[in-house]
Amino acid sequence: MPTLKFAVLAGDYIGPEVMGEALRVLEAVARQENLRLDYAAADVGGAAIDRHGSALPAATVQACAAADAILFGSVGGPKWEKLPPAEQPERAALLPLRKHFTLFANIRPGLLYRELADASPLKTARIPNGIDIVCIRELTGGLYFGLPKATTTLPDGDIQAVDTMVYRKSEIERITATAISAARARGKKLCSVDKANVLETSVLWRKTVTAYVAQHAPDVTLSHMYVDNAAMQLARDPNQFDVFVTENMFGDILSDEMAVICGSLGMLSSASLGAAKNSHGLPFGLYEPAGGTAPDIAGKNLANPCAQILSAALMLRYSFGLEKPAARIEAAVKQAVVTGHRTADIAFGGASVGTRAMTDAILAQL
Ligand code: IPM
Ligand code: MG
Repeated sequence: MPTLKFAVLAGDYIGPEVMGEALRVLEAVARQENLRLDYAAADVGGAAIDRHGSALPAATVQACAAADAILFGSVGGPKWEKLPPAEQPERAALLPLRKHFTLFANIRPGLLYRELADASPLKTARIPNGIDIVCIRELTGGLYFGLPKATTTLPDGDIQAVDTMVYRKSEIERITATAISAARARGKKLCSVDKANVLETSVLWRKTVTAYVAQHAPDVTLSHMYVDNAAMQLARDPNQFDVFVTENMFGDILSDEMAVICGSLGMLSSASLGAAKNSHGLPFGLYEPAGGTAPDIAGKNLANPCAQILSAALMLRYSFGLEKPAARIEAAVKQAVVTGHRTADIAFGGASVGTRAMTDAILAQL
């Protein structure tokens, strides 16, 4: 019986609530598909600050290293907002985790079911069939991690801060390889987003992506777009994209835009894949919902568990190679939603169900 060994980092506010629901779904699928779940919970984020004085305790990193994947909830919130920026849960837990495990490839599906088109701020006429695109964001390079990164007082008393945008050809090539795989699994259409009219890193980016696709994926149709235009095109006609690939900072911004046009953050999953292979010979990865900790609705049985459940499906697909169970979970979530089971965030003021009932509806579809 295949064993799925993963670390469970639930985090803060709604994190543990929706994580519990995702685990219920995984348990059900494991029973049906004859899989053994072997998971261990570890503290992260604000919860870890409170208990251990650090957002990412060494024991948590060890628990992750001993596993084949990380199922992550969400971290941060008002309780820890007064800490210095570098100690806040988001920066002190998530970014070091990404760096430590070289989780360079962030896959964010932008999926809006046709039945939920009303949830998008875009006019329904522009997205008659919903939205179905994928953002591939480089996650361990660029402005986030480039050095120098510092604030200094200058001789004249003025204060200066610097962040550095830096990319190596090899970093661009490996994220391009991920993007090619994603494009091949879909419509074989890839758009690379950069700012090559201004930035040196983008000039290298464009040159490298072009050469890499020409050499390794002549079957994939490649286009390029400046990031400012991409932001506009996403709002104008999102489905003109199939898969787009971009550097870290641009991807952070564009993926939030993508999330909002897809209606509810409560539906969006993500995968961050590492350079290293796990014991299954597949990418070690971190799987997390896009929605954040939603402190305002925490503990009220109101949170939408779908993003966490869909993130668990991505874990099955990418880190465990279990395409069928992954697709079954995705289909069950979709069926539950289109048959009218909706948490408040996607109910448009109509009848809504709570977190647990939403999961029950998904379980019923499995
Ligand atoms: C994201 C988030 C993070 C990022 C923050 C929380 C550090 O916005 O995953 O998109 O900027 O990468
Ligand atoms: Mg972001």
